[in-house]
Amino acid sequence: MLNATKTTMSENARGAEVLIILLALLVLALPSPIAAQQSTCADCHFADPRAPGRDHLEDWDRSAHGRNRVGCEKCHGGNAATFESFLAHRGILGSANPSSPVHPRNLPTTCGACHAGPFVAFQKSTHFELLRKGDDRGPVCATCHGPVAGDRPSPKALEGHCAQCHGPRGIALRPERAAGARTLYEAINESREMLAIAKPLIGRVTNRTRRAELEGMYQQAEVPLTQAVQAGHEFVYDNLNERLATALQRIEALLGQLANPR
Ligand code: HEC
Ligand code: HEC
Ligand code: HEC
Ligand code: HEC
Ligand code: HEC
Repeated sequence: MLNATKTTMSENARGAEVLIILLALLVLALPSPIAAQQSTCADCHFADPRAPGRDHLEDWDRSAHGRNRVGCEKCHGGNAATFESFLAHRGILGSANPSSPVHPRNLPTTCGACHAGPFVAFQKSTHFELLRKGDDRGPVCATCHGPVAGDRPSPKALEGHCAQCHGPRGIALRPERAAGARTLYEAINESREMLAIAKPLIGRVTNRTRRAELEGMYQQAEVPLTQAVQAGHEFVYDNLNERLATALQRIEALLGQLANPR
């Protein structure tokens, strides 16, 4: 382009044409974050400014669901194999429609299809009982996790969620439930931190047999911790407490082993 003054007009025009084609090819070839997810629903919704729910779309893109290719159709239904809008949306119902899979009352089943552990526990709860009776005062999955993002609420955020309903001015009784839940999840996070400390220490053990043994212990401690999080969806915390106690015993045994090398 520096020697553009020496070239004729027609050469310039041709050059510009080639440049434009090259740029177009480049844009097409660039791996866009949307294309990486391979969902026609998401592709079109990102591209079409008339498509509703911008924030929802971006939340999805940034979420564990977006990263793990849980496409729009997994929650909304529809046909994700076509760019033809009419065909794609056939059967999709707005969330206000009681038959929609994203209607609050149907979320436990929709989300539960992939998250069996939390779903099974949730079905034991008074909250689920309310929902089954058509009483909408209780929380559903989206209350704590957001509709699309699969947020992991911090213990403090969880306390806030409970308190919205169980708080002093809430619709349900027993405000102490909110603080109680926070304390338990703080204990879960502390256990996770202890495991995070153990991990690199195990990695540094040179004796292979011993390292394998310690890795086994690590996994044995992780299992009840995951189960505790799942049991938390009963919102009565007996099972969570029991699983957490087991996890703690195993973590202590593991840390004990690491502190006293044989
Ligand atoms: C070709 C582009 C295109 C494709 C493909 C597409 N959408 Fe849409 N979608 C739109 C546009 C534009 C709108 C808003 C206008 C309308 O309702 O048709 C919309 C509206 C919606 C709505 C709101 C409907 C309502 O009742 O409020 C939902 C939900 C939705 N799409 C989900 C999906 C899902 C899930 C898929 C894939 C199975 C999908 N879309 C595929 C362009 C698309
Ligand atoms: C994990 C489940 C889930 C996934 C995945 C998901 N959505 Fe949603 N979506 C919901 C829920 C739940 C609502 C209900 C409204 C709310 O609470 O915000 C909703 C609402 C919407 C709405 C507003 C219309 C309505 O019915 O309320 C649109 C539009 C929409 N989603 C589009 C999409 C698109 C496009 C994708 C893919 C990029 C997507 N959703 C992925 C769960 C999901
Ligand atoms: C089609 C399967 C599918 C559906 C439906 C689904 N999820 Fe997920 N979800 C996943 C996958 C895959 C992951 C990422 C891997 C993992 O953490 O298990 C995930 C992750 C999560 C996480 C953990 C996020 C993190 O950062 O670790 C939460 C919380 C979650 N989903 C909640 C929900 C909720 C609430 C709904 C319904 C609104 C839902 N999911 C619907 C498959 C699904
Ligand atoms: C009252 C709040 C609340 C409600 C309602 C709720 N959850 Fe959770 N959920 C949590 C908390 C708190 C965690 C633990 C967060 C963490 O890992 O620190 C969690 C964790 C999860 C995880 C991650 C599990 C793992 O193995 O790490 C999934 C998946 C999940 N919930 C799905 C659901 C589904 C599905 C529903 C509806 C049936 C639901 N949740 C309802 C609060 C809630
Ligand atoms: C969206 C509102 C809402 C949220 C959020 C909510 N609850 Fe509830 N909860 C209710 C309602 C409504 C009832 C039934 C009325 C009652 O018994 O007070 C209930 C009942 C209960 C019950 C059974 C009744 C009892 O007192 O034994 C427990 C336990 C409970 N909730 C714990 C929790 C905990 C812990 C949290 C937070 C992790 C939470 N709830 C979040 C609305 C909510």
